[in-house]
Amino acid sequence: MEWQRRNRIASQTLALCIALMAASMETVECAGRSVHLPGGSAGSATRGGAVRQRTHTASLKDFGGVGDGITSNTKAFHAAVAHLAQFAGGGGGMLFVPAGRWLTGPFNLTNSFTLFLHRDAVILATQDMIEWPVIDPLPSYGRGRDHSGGRYSSLIGGSHLTDVVIAGDNGTIDGQGAFWWKNFHEGKLKYTRGYLIELMHSDQILISNLTLLNSPTWNIHPVYSSNIVISQITILAPVHSPNTDGINPDSSSHVRIEDCYIVSGDDCVAIKSGWDEYGIAVGMPSQHIIIQRLTCISPTSAVIALGSEMSGGIQDVRAEDITAIDSESGIRIKTAVGRGGYVKDIFVRGMNLNTMKWVFRMDGNYKSHPDNKYDPHAIPVIKGISYSNIIAKNVKQVASLHGIPNAPFTGICISNVTVQLAAKARKQTWTCTDVEGVSSGVTPAPCASFRDQGAGANPCPFPTGRFTY
Ligand SMILES: *[C@@H]1O[C@H](CO)[C@@H](O)[C@H](O)[C@H]1NC(C)=O
Ligand SMILES: *[C@@H]1O[C@H](CO)[C@@H](O)[C@H](O)[C@H]1NC(C)=O
Ligand SMILES: *[C@@H]1O[C@H](CO)[C@@H](O)[C@H](O)[C@H]1NC(C)=O
Ligand SMILES: *[C@@H]1O[C@H](CO)[C@@H](O)[C@H](O)[C@H]1NC(C)=O
Repeated sequence: MEWQRRNRIASQTLALCIALMAASMETVECAGRSVHLPGGSAGSATRGGAVRQRTHTASLKDFGGVGDGITSNTKAFHAAVAHLAQFAGGGGGMLFVPAGRWLTGPFNLTNSFTLFLHRDAVILATQDMIEWPVIDPLPSYGRGRDHSGGRYSSLIGGSHLTDVVIAGDNGTIDGQGAFWWKNFHEGKLKYTRGYLIELMHSDQILISNLTLLNSPTWNIHPVYSSNIVISQITILAPVHSPNTDGINPDSSSHVRIEDCYIVSGDDCVAIKSGWDEYGIAVGMPSQHIIIQRLTCISPTSAVIALGSEMSGGIQDVRAEDITAIDSESGIRIKTAVGRGGYVKDIFVRGMNLNTMKWVFRMDGNYKSHPDNKYDPHAIPVIKGISYSNIIAKNVKQVASLHGIPNAPFTGICISNVTVQLAAKARKQTWTCTDVEGVSSGVTPAPCASFRDQGAGANPCPFPTGRFTY
């Protein structure tokens, strides 16, 4: 594909510039050289434009950064971003993070900006609580996810930005989450834990070729944002760490998640759009989302979850070529009375699953509300859900599908699915209430609420058109 070719050329040019910077550690500007972005894909794929360039480049060391893993670099990051912000209108700035261990508190990015990590660079989240500002809850949630009231800032953040790249030669961002998980479990935190990366109200975002370790909670959280590419990201967290979701597009549109490898204590990818009356009031859907070539290990949660916060609506999601090992469920829709909103036009094709509790799961009674002010008449609409070409092995139960009484989940299409049950599988291979749809070529056979179209029918076509950005 054209953008991939440009991407390669761009990253070669960048690699040269980075090599120059790494060699002469004191260099401030990259020899006035125009620095091409890795993954011009965000630009070209989202706008059809040329590969963007950054004309100004600086190293964290130029701002007094010390990569010893002990010294706080919060001031250095703030100073570097403030310096490079002046070039936003004139070709943009790139901050290079050299090899080393760079302890820091939260910092925000700026417009037309690239944060680029050397392959041996590790950005370490500080555990000094004084360094973590408390910010307002998201309007579509009305409160923090762990606690009512505010929340700790995200480690790397930004709001109302255009053209932001966070990339590297697979450099590392380490949330040092054990400290947060322990305090969370012991009830010692006053505010909701911060995310590793959160961009709000932003457009044209590329996050690529990084390893994210041990986030305090969710890893990557684009919210109220658009035109986002998240590629070649490795996310690792202990499988029992609390709420360490991998990638959570939230009230965001035109998102592409590809070639990611995620091991986590919660959902690998969770698409969201706000919580009950707060999400309904904001009314921003998550839509036009592609997930491809995802590998997930998540023994306690889903490979791909839709919800449970979905009050702004979720639509037009296409997931393809998904691999999972030792995960709880393949695709899970979570919602509840009071959420309002909808989940519709969801297409999943090509999943290879090994060792699962469920392949398919839907919960219309996922009780978790921000407060008691939710509208009991706000009934979510779940329809047009299509799953095809799935092979799963060592599965406890094929499906647990439960809609909402008197508001069934409809238009569910399941085709070409072969599930091999585990030695200690549940007796009942499918359980279904308040769901309806069609099926074709599914083994073991689904519940009676799925009208069999006969083997060879292709009742769940995957959309062929591409998104127009
Ligand atoms: C980052 O930006 C957000 C949103 O504008 C703001 O609330 C927060 O205080 C900023 N954080 C830092 C560390 O400057
Ligand atoms: C990603 O990082 C790896 C490891 O440093 C590097 O070999 C590869 O070229 C990078 N990929 C891109 C697209 O920049
Ligand atoms: C990035 O590093 C992770 C963790 O070491 C590794 O598993 C992954 O294969 C690397 N990715 C690339 C593109 O080099
Ligand atoms: C059925 O799914 C398998 C993969 O699970 C795929 O190889 C095969 O081509 C699919 N069959 C049809 C008719 O699409």
